[in-house]
Amino acid sequence: MKNRWLFIFGLALAITAFWTQPAFADNPPHDGSYTATTDSCAGCHRTHTGSGAGLLKTTSSYNLCMNCHGVTSGGANTDVRDGIYVSTNAPLKGGGFVNAKMNVALGASAVSAPTTSSHAVNGMTGYTSGVLYGIGALNSGAGTTFTLECYSCHDPHGKSGSGATATYRILRSVPRYVTGASNVPYNVPDVTTKEYSVKDATGKYYGENYPATTDLNLTDNTKMTTLSNWCATCHTRIHGAGSATGSTSSGDAIYRFRHRSDGSNVSNSSANGDPGCLTCHVAHGSSATMGAYSSSVPKPGTAEGGGNYLGSSLLRINNRGVCEACHNK
Ligand code: HEC
Ligand code: HEC
Ligand code: HEC
Ligand code: HEC
Ligand code: HEC
Ligand code: HEC
Repeated sequence: MKNRWLFIFGLALAITAFWTQPAFADNPPHDGSYTATTDSCAGCHRTHTGSGAGLLKTTSSYNLCMNCHGVTSGGANTDVRDGIYVSTNAPLKGGGFVNAKMNVALGASAVSAPTTSSHAVNGMTGYTSGVLYGIGALNSGAGTTFTLECYSCHDPHGKSGSGATATYRILRSVPRYVTGASNVPYNVPDVTTKEYSVKDATGKYYGENYPATTDLNLTDNTKMTTLSNWCATCHTRIHGAGSATGSTSSGDAIYRFRHRSDGSNVSNSSANGDPGCLTCHVAHGSSATMGAYSSSVPKPGTAEGGGNYLGSSLLRINNRGVCEACHNK
């Protein structure tokens, strides 16, 4: 415990000193001070006595990252454990891993509640590895079991794009250790102003957009397209790119007809247009609840009514509120 607080204190000083400066060449959040004689490696690595793989000082990346991103007095404002931006208590865009502050009922304001689904990260309480749905070539089954770490998606050193370029949220251009993922490097370009919380004062996520200039409408969809392509580096066959993927077979036995999900062609007015993954899902975890029909959707590759059901699947709104927001049936 003592070590942990010393660690946080030491790095918090480094953060104050370096992370309030303007963007560096690769706009890194964790390595802005890396010089030829940097101190920062020892904040996370042990050279001969690592407790976790990758010479990490903790047994898992989850524990390491949560030192700062999971305690309200930690080194970071982005508390991804509880899904809040600490200094303002505003909801984070990514939801949360253990609790999430979301407006899942489209009510007057966002409410904090335990998550009902999340990307399960190794090291979380009660963790079991899950199936990475849709990875791999056509007709290669529902997916493969994969041990997910924070660093599967993020590169804590920054420079995560191919050619060491800055990426949005230091997302890796190639997910780490994922066999069968698309290994074509895919950079999600970084934003100049980092805004971590949901813009709508009521906390409504729906329509939240990327990048920052047009947060609450869908007129600029650059980030939605790139983020969807990025999610598809792992969930490849779920990606419905192009029109009419809902009525044209992909040729896959399981992911055969798919709702369009490439986030492109958002030229329509208001809330219409083609959704991207993050139109309907959050990246980390959701507190949405599912009713009778929504909680009886079988996991991919299992039979209807067979008892093997999906949960809330990181959805932004209760039940199928995400559909009604566009289709208004
Ligand atoms: C905020 C925590 C953190 C800091 C600071 C940090 N690392 Fe890492 N490092 C990690 C994590 C997490 C991994 C992933 C482990 C894995 O891939 O198995 C990693 C992996 C690595 C790897 C192997 C894989 C790769 O990405 O190349 C090297 C080499 C490395 N770190 C070197 C360094 C050096 C040198 C420094 C200081 C300049 C440093 N790290 C600072 C967390 C950190
Ligand atoms: C499956 C990939 C994935 C994993 C695993 C993952 N993240 Fe993220 N993370 C993302 C994406 C995508 C975003 C951007 C979300 C957005 O802007 O809507 C993000 C955003 C963030 C942010 C910015 C705050 C926010 O909520 O938007 C932080 C900080 C962060 N992640 C830390 C972590 C930590 C710590 C872990 C491990 C406990 C982790 N991430 C695991 C994909 C991932
Ligand atoms: C590094 C590979 C990787 C990337 C990139 C990735 N995922 Fe996942 N995803 C996984 C794994 C592994 C699981 C299964 C783990 C689990 O059981 O939660 C999963 C599960 C899911 C689930 C099902 C959760 C449930 O409750 O069954 C959803 C929905 C999902 N991902 C959406 C996304 C979205 C949206 C993105 C882009 C922001 C994304 N994923 C990016 C690896 C990835
Ligand atoms: C010593 C504290 C500390 C540790 C440990 C730490 N972070 Fe961070 N991280 C920060 C701070 C501070 C920021 C700046 C944003 C903020 O205040 O929350 C940040 C920002 C981020 C961002 C947002 C990057 C962007 O471009 O906006 C991501 C993603 C992230 N960290 C992931 C991780 C992951 C993954 C780990 C574990 C491997 C980790 N962090 C470990 C302190 C830390
Ligand atoms: C139009 C809203 C919408 C979009 C866009 C969307 N999803 Fe989903 N997703 C859902 C719903 C609803 C479910 C619950 C299962 C169902 O209804 O079939 C789900 C389920 C999932 C699951 C759980 C397994 C499965 O396939 O049922 C994964 C993984 C997933 N989505 C990933 C993604 C990824 C990656 C993208 C972007 C390429 C994406 N989703 C785009 C609404 C959406
Ligand atoms: C961001 C707006 C948006 C959201 C959210 C959305 N849709 Fe759609 N939906 C569209 C658009 C645009 C099309 C036409 C896509 C094309 O060009 O093939 C479409 C097409 C469809 C089709 C017809 C597919 C075909 O090719 O015949 C169905 C059925 C459908 N959506 C159901 C849903 C369901 C169910 C949900 C919730 C899980 C949902 N939609 C969420 C915009 C949306």
